[in-house]
Amino acid sequence: MAIKLSTEFAEPFYTQAEYDALIPDAKRGMEEVLTHFEKGEDPLGWFSLPEDYDRAEFARIEEAAKKIRETCQVFVVIGIGGSYLGARAAIEFCQGPFHNQLRKDGPEIYFAGTSVDGDALTELVRLCEGRDVCINVISKSGTTTEPAIAFRVFREMLEKKYGEEGAKDRIFVTTDKNVKPGTLKELAVKEGYESFVVPGNIGGRYSVLTAVGLLPIAVSGADIRAMMGGAAAARRAFRGEFEENVCMQYALLRNLFYRKGKKFELYASYTPAMELTGEWLKQLYGESEGKDGKGLFPVSAIYSRDLHSLGQYVQEGERTMFETILLFDKPRYTFDIPKADTDVDGLRYLEGRDMAFVNQNAFRGTALAHRDGGVPGLVLTLDREDEENFGYMVYFFELACAVSGYMLGVDPFNQPGVEAYKKNMFRLLGKPGYTN
Ligand code: PA5
Repeated sequence: MAIKLSTEFAEPFYTQAEYDALIPDAKRGMEEVLTHFEKGEDPLGWFSLPEDYDRAEFARIEEAAKKIRETCQVFVVIGIGGSYLGARAAIEFCQGPFHNQLRKDGPEIYFAGTSVDGDALTELVRLCEGRDVCINVISKSGTTTEPAIAFRVFREMLEKKYGEEGAKDRIFVTTDKNVKPGTLKELAVKEGYESFVVPGNIGGRYSVLTAVGLLPIAVSGADIRAMMGGAAAARRAFRGEFEENVCMQYALLRNLFYRKGKKFELYASYTPAMELTGEWLKQLYGESEGKDGKGLFPVSAIYSRDLHSLGQYVQEGERTMFETILLFDKPRYTFDIPKADTDVDGLRYLEGRDMAFVNQNAFRGTALAHRDGGVPGLVLTLDREDEENFGYMVYFFELACAVSGYMLGVDPFNQPGVEAYKKNMFRLLGKPGYTN
C-alpha cells in the first residue's frame, strides 16, 4: 500500500532551488509534530492512534455495530463537522454513493444534524416511518446545536415507537467521557444509553478513526480492522526521512504554491465515491489552516462532472489556484463500453474499451490543459477504493495537515473562528446568556 506523489503537472511552476529552500521548513514542521506529541501538548492523539487505540472500545464498537445491523432498517447518524464528515466519506469511499441501495444486508444509513433546515429533518423523519430505526448521536462537546435539535427529534420518535425502555436499546452515543452539566454525556449517563468515547486528545476533524467514525463505518459493513491496518501502515511509512516521505513532500509543495500566490487548493477526483472525501478534506484543511489571516482555501470537485461547471474558471479564471488530484491505480470494477449496431453517437472508436481508459485520459487531458492554463497539478495516487486505502489516506492527510499548519505558523488544532457565527445566532435566537 502506498500513496504516490507525482509533480509532472506542477514542475513548470517552481524551481528546484525554491523547493530545496523549503526542505528545512518541512522538516521543522514534522519536528514540531513529534515534539508536541512527545510532550503531550496539542491534541495529537491521532498521531499514534493506529497503534495504541483502545482495543476494548474497538471490540465494543464491533459488537454494537453487529446489533445495529441486526435490529434496524434505517440507521440515523447525528453529528456535524468532524462528528459527521469522516464516517460518511469512509462509507462512500468503500461502498460508493449508492451504498444504501446496493447494501445486501444491514440498514440504510442517513446523516442528520448537519443543518438547521426543517425541511431536511421533516423528510428524514418521514423516511423512517414504518421502519425499524437505530440512532448514533455524535458530539465531542455534547453541546452543539444542530445535532442537539436532531437528537431531540429522533429520541422522541424512538420513545414513541418503542417506549422509553425499548428506545434505550436503539440509541448509541459518542461523546467526551467527562460528565459535565448540560452535555450529551450527562444525558447518556442519566438515561443509560450505550456510550462510546471521543478521546480528549483527538479533535473533531482528526477523529474519523475513533468511535466517531468507526461505529457508523462498521454498521455499513465495512471492515474497520482493515481500515486501522491501513492507518498503521501509513504511520510506519511516514516516519522516514524527507527524501522518502511523501507526506512531508506534499506539505512542502502546498506551502510553496501558497508562497507563490496560489490561495486556493482544489481537491479534484475522477471518482464520484470521493465526493465526501473532498468535503472531509475541506474541513480538515480549512479549519486547521484558515486563521490569523492566513491559509489556503480548500475547495473540491468531482471531474469530469465539474469540468462542465467549474472547468471554465479553473482553465481561465484568476490564476490563484493549484489542484491536488486524487487518483486510484485500480477501479473497483471493470466496465467496457458496449458495442452498438450503429455509430450514431460517434463512439465506435471507444467500443470495447474499459471506462478506466476513458477516465485516465480525461485526467491526463485535463491536467495538461490546466497546467498550460496556469494551474499546477499535484497528483496523489492510491491503490484502490477499499478500507485499507481509506485508513492509509486519512493518516496521510492528517499528518500532512499538521506539518502544513506548523510550516504556516498557525495552530493546526484549534478553530476559534467557528464561535463567531454561533454567538450571533444564539443572540438572535434569544438563547439565555447571549442577549445584547
Ligand atoms: O473539527 C472540529 O472540532 C469541529 O468541526 C467539530 O467537529 C464540530 O464543530 C462538531 O463539534 P462537536 O463534535 O463538539 O458537536
